[in-house]
Amino acid sequence: MISSSRTHKAFLIATCWLAGFGMCLLFLQHILQDCPSPPNPPYLGLESHSNSSNPTPPTQPEKPILLLWVWPENYRFDFSDCKTFYNIEGCHLTDDRNIYPQADAVLIFHKAISWDLSNLPPSPRPVFQRWIWFHVESPTNTHKIPGLENLFNLTLSYRRDADITIRNLLTVNKNPNKEFVLPKKDKLVCWFVSNTNPSTGTGTRMQYYGEFKKHITVNIFGSMSGTRMKDEDYYPIMASCKFYLSFENSVHKDYITEKFNGPLAVGTVPVVLGPQRENYEQFAPADSFIHINDFPDPAALAQYLLQLDKDDEAYRRYFNWRKHVSAKPHLVIWNQEFIPYICHACEYIGNHREYKQAHDIYKWYFS
Ligand SMILES: *[C@@H]1O[C@H](CO)[C@@H](O)[C@H](O)[C@H]1NC(C)=O
Ligand SMILES: *[C@@H]1O[C@H](CO)[C@@H](O)[C@H](O)[C@H]1NC(C)=O
Repeated sequence: MISSSRTHKAFLIATCWLAGFGMCLLFLQHILQDCPSPPNPPYLGLESHSNSSNPTPPTQPEKPILLLWVWPENYRFDFSDCKTFYNIEGCHLTDDRNIYPQADAVLIFHKAISWDLSNLPPSPRPVFQRWIWFHVESPTNTHKIPGLENLFNLTLSYRRDADITIRNLLTVNKNPNKEFVLPKKDKLVCWFVSNTNPSTGTGTRMQYYGEFKKHITVNIFGSMSGTRMKDEDYYPIMASCKFYLSFENSVHKDYITEKFNGPLAVGTVPVVLGPQRENYEQFAPADSFIHINDFPDPAALAQYLLQLDKDDEAYRRYFNWRKHVSAKPHLVIWNQEFIPYICHACEYIGNHREYKQAHDIYKWYFS
């Protein structure tokens, strides 16, 4: 019995020990599960940077990564806005520089680059990585920082010959649009203007305006009038004017900005100062705007607008194009300016993986 009870005891101890070991294993497994797992591949971790409120499920690993190297003018936004505003989700957008070695493309805002180039991404650049030159100003307002000539594989600009062109485009609809209702008008000519700094190229438009205002009343809004206009007033005020002065700060091919899109979107006739009429007609119907070059001088333009003010039928003809063509309002909140650029760069990177050698951006941009 003794020996048998001993065996029994030994058996119990062994069982306990095994059971304990099993528990141990279970416990260990539990701990391991709770332990931080090895770092995720970078594309899985990106949602946290978009700061979206509802966590998204792990995303498709094959989406290319677009790294925003600096926030333009420090105007930040939630990357999920690309989906909200444009239904764009073709890439993984991030501003996390730790992702640099894996980034398929890096978006670099020209105005933020320092003269000594010390804030560019580090060398060597991963062989598969494309750099995008991100610039929204016209050549007049572009600093020719030396050393950038042959770094960028892609260009992002308003120009039609950029690799990634960002513009407010009109769309053609097969079915006629619903009848256009002209907004109520209580002003004849309006102009929203803040930048009067001649070094930015505004001399041409200021000179024209100086002559023009002798012949017609121009309602000025924006800091030139002494008060800042609220973002939410932008469209309502524009709509209440029969004509809007879409005067670009400088005159360059394709440099036709939101100053032109705003009145088209809202139902006001743009009076344009910028590149040649032909250039405008590449983007908008010939009868949707008035070009200052259509008149020998500012006085003649003023006379024409005063005449249209008395002739509703002639004025209404400037809206005939709206039957099959439509203009979309652009974002007007001051810190939303760069959202379309960044989102569309993401769309491009999501759809294009072609090799492209860097070319001299300045030779292209200033010629
Ligand atoms: C995320 O958003 C919340 C509110 O929407 C804000 O309070 C917080 O500062 C944001 N965090 C980051 C890292 O941007
Ligand atoms: C980008 O341009 C550089 C400079 O020309 C070139 O060496 C590199 O191979 C290009 N990369 C890609 C992915 O196109």
